[in-house]
Amino acid sequence: MSCSQSKLEQARAYEARESAQIPAQSRPQFHLTPWVGWMNDPNGFCYYNGAYHLFYQYHPYDTVWGPMHWGHASSTDLLHWTHLPCALAPDSPADEKGCFSGTALPLEDGRLMLLYTGVQENEKGEVRQLQCLAIGDGVDFTKDSQNPVIGESHLPEGASAVDFRDPKIWYEDGLYQCVVSTRDAKDQGCILLYQSADARRWEYRTTLDTCRNEYGKMWECPDFFPLDGRQLLLVSPQEMAGSPDGEFHPGFGTVALLGHYDKTTLRFTREAVQAIDYGTDFYAPQTVQAPDGRRIMIGWMQNWATVNDTPRRQKWFGCMTLPRELSVQNGRLYQRPVRELENLWKSTVQHRETLNGRAVYEDMAGRSFDCTVVLDTAASPDCRRFALHFAEDARHSTRIEWDAVRGELVFDRSLCGTRCDMPHIRRVKISPQDGKLSLRLILDGNCAEFFVNDGAYAFSAIVDTPPEADGISLHSDGAALIDVTYHAL
Ligand code: FRU
Repeated sequence: MSCSQSKLEQARAYEARESAQIPAQSRPQFHLTPWVGWMNDPNGFCYYNGAYHLFYQYHPYDTVWGPMHWGHASSTDLLHWTHLPCALAPDSPADEKGCFSGTALPLEDGRLMLLYTGVQENEKGEVRQLQCLAIGDGVDFTKDSQNPVIGESHLPEGASAVDFRDPKIWYEDGLYQCVVSTRDAKDQGCILLYQSADARRWEYRTTLDTCRNEYGKMWECPDFFPLDGRQLLLVSPQEMAGSPDGEFHPGFGTVALLGHYDKTTLRFTREAVQAIDYGTDFYAPQTVQAPDGRRIMIGWMQNWATVNDTPRRQKWFGCMTLPRELSVQNGRLYQRPVRELENLWKSTVQHRETLNGRAVYEDMAGRSFDCTVVLDTAASPDCRRFALHFAEDARHSTRIEWDAVRGELVFDRSLCGTRCDMPHIRRVKISPQDGKLSLRLILDGNCAEFFVNDGAYAFSAIVDTPPEADGISLHSDGAALIDVTYHAL
């Protein structure tokens, strides 16, 4: 048996054996978790042979980051996932220090192509991140003998081979194309465009955009696609500075650059910049185009800045967000949980009232639900503050609050049960839309995602709360006309 087989086979035997020890109740129901061990970025999100496939950055042997493998899962509804054998192990000279993030492309001949970052050390012992190719049948992949297919010599002048990673591949106008991130000579994150006729011989074409020392430094995990008449460049910047309106928080961020792309000149012109997610736990999102045309995004529901302080409670760690449908409305990126979620609604409860003080509804409690509260701000001029608390009991509570005086949405998980001194609060300037403020919260165990104003703002957060804390309460300071719709999941 060659060395390359043994690392992958070792990982496959380990995950099949050890995952059997993990109780299903220890996992969220609809958020993908690693089969065993550690998960970070989504990789290779694609629709292939009648199912969605999602790969992920994976260290099966521990619940902390380590030598990167690619884990693998598939789903027909984007909500129930089946784990599949580990797809890549760091077992070839081009990727012996890790198989970092990348993407997948179904080929016309029925095979699936993966383009990913291989980490290696050169003769001088310096780390190099270069782009590698693997092709397979959706379960087993063969790495290309010419790896890396995009090497150091393919970098433009001044660009870094130490930070050169996360290729996103697509096929268009008879060419394989990919974007890859790197740092330029001024230490600015930037996105390079490559093209190839055969996916093996690539040429650098242009630099699509850079952080311009404004949106973080190194940009990770780019995605680049047209949507609703715009071109979107999604990036995950390191070392972001916070902004006074709460649009950007310091540290690891996620940013959408909306603009136009001229395919003849290969010029991307940016017109608007916004955060993708405003919560505490969201990074490295990746998109796929579904067979019905929807552009669907999924992200890693964690944060590099705090991940090592977060307690490990199981033999798995890390999860993905719910997949979200993207659209551009009024020049803004909107996100809504995939409509498949509606098939999981078990019951529907509705309440409409004018609330002044606190309300708890007997038919609304749990840790697995999809709940929308619409506050009629136009009809509630005296409402100074309105809040939804969840995962609540006498000792625990997580709060989503609308501060009408400041025009701010506040998320606060400091009382969720955490014992870690890390950022637990996010504040973002948000205005009601057409006299209403809507909050849609989806809770799946410890995974909370909420969407404000029908997807104009998305927040993702992990709450470290014991499962027994299943209360939901509503609070208003001043009369608030509200409409509540609750579906157990
Ligand atoms: C982003 C990232 C990627 C890299 C991967 C390594 O979270 O740093 O840039 O490919 O994680 O696991």
